Amino acid sequence: MQTAHMAIRRQARSCQRKGEGGRGSHRARPRIQTTTALDPNQMKALTFKRYGKSPDIGFSERARPTLQPDELLVEVHAAGVNPIDNMIPTGIFKPVVKFELPATLGSDVAGIVIDVGSRVTRFKRGDAIFASVFDLGRGTIAEYVAVPESAAALKPANLDFMQAASLPMVALTSWQALKERADLQPGQKVFIPAGSGGIGTIAIQLAKHLGATVGTTTSTGNVALVNSLGADEVVDYKQQDFETVLRGYDIALGTMRGDTIEKSLAILKPGGRIVSLVGPLDAAFARARRLNVVLQFVFAMMSRKIIRLANKHNVAYSFLFVRPNGTQLAKIGELLEAERLRPVIDKVFVFDQAKQALEYLAQDRAKGKVVVKINK
Ligand SMILES: NC(=O)c1ccc[n+]([C@@H]2O[C@H](COP(=O)([O-])OP(=O)(O)OC[C@H]3O[C@@H](n4cnc5c(N)ncnc54)[C@H](OP(=O)(O)O)[C@@H]3O)[C@@H](O)[C@H]2O)c1
Repeated sequence: MQTAHMAIRRQARSCQRKGEGGRGSHRARPRIQTTTALDPNQMKALTFKRYGKSPDIGFSERARPTLQPDELLVEVHAAGVNPIDNMIPTGIFKPVVKFELPATLGSDVAGIVIDVGSRVTRFKRGDAIFASVFDLGRGTIAEYVAVPESAAALKPANLDFMQAASLPMVALTSWQALKERADLQPGQKVFIPAGSGGIGTIAIQLAKHLGATVGTTTSTGNVALVNSLGADEVVDYKQQDFETVLRGYDIALGTMRGDTIEKSLAILKPGGRIVSLVGPLDAAFARARRLNVVLQFVFAMMSRKIIRLANKHNVAYSFLFVRPNGTQLAKIGELLEAERLRPVIDKVFVFDQAKQALEYLAQDRAKGKVVVKINK
């Protein structure tokens, strides 16, 4: 996974150098008019056509989604982007996350319900909603998306569409990692590396809301940001190694590839836990998804080393894959409305520049979230 990630970053950097995607290259790039499809049964969507090194990411005309009885048809006003949107076209998650090609990218959405299936009870036309449709074989960087009722929640009234679209994946992941998997209790210490990223900016706030003490890492320029989100112990990774500074942690989130997860063992108490969002994938994950025995074996092999090291430290390791959940998102929405959580947005791209949004995110420097505004 790390190799693929590095390849994406290299590709993004090379595009920037060639002036294909970077700021300042607007004049050189032919403008593509992509705001709306002309045929009312069609829509514009950012798609990839194949897995691998040349996924052919670009705008396509696609049929508007048709509704299942338990789904909402949502006119997309904004789509949040996440690192996995860059990983999926590489094919790295192909055995796990299923798409029919060409596939629409993106999984976070905020928009207006324009139609409802016959069995929908909680939403009506005109409702403003936000949702994650991650892992449901559809995408949100498009004019319309079908959203299962069970995945949607009303948009918090105090947020605009861009702010609401920035949150579903990172807020649900933080909720499922901290509350469900790690059972974070008031007074516990949780380590959330990369505090200035999409996950970090919301996970720090949620952990503080749950009464935890939060440690994080960030670069010098982002120390003030993570402090403003409530982080208690901030390690500037340009100056110090966190594993030499932090001690006595109960929980560590795995938010960074490389050796950060192994190094986290040094700061965890015996009986602590690591919840990794970046892998290695483990056999429990494969079993929970009912993957075949070959994949169960492969994932067991991939996680063998970290589980052995974790056992040695009397620490539990597990991998977590976020899932859509409208009930949890509604609870997150309440915290947002009560201003216990706030969105942190780095950059908003217009629909025409959705591909550049992905390239920007691939540089791994986003301070908070990157969002695509779908022009209305
Ligand atoms: N398993 C799941 O269900 C799930 C769900 C969501 C996300 N994820 C994964 O979680 C990871 C994090 O996602 P994200 O949305 O937070 O990514 P992101 O927003 O793209 O992360 C960018 C941030 O990482 C920071 N960073 C980069 N190198 C760092 C380092 N060496 N030390 C500390 N901070 C560093 C950068 O800050 P500086 O500029 O200060 O370095 C930047 O603010 C991704 O791999 C994503 O795929 C998994």
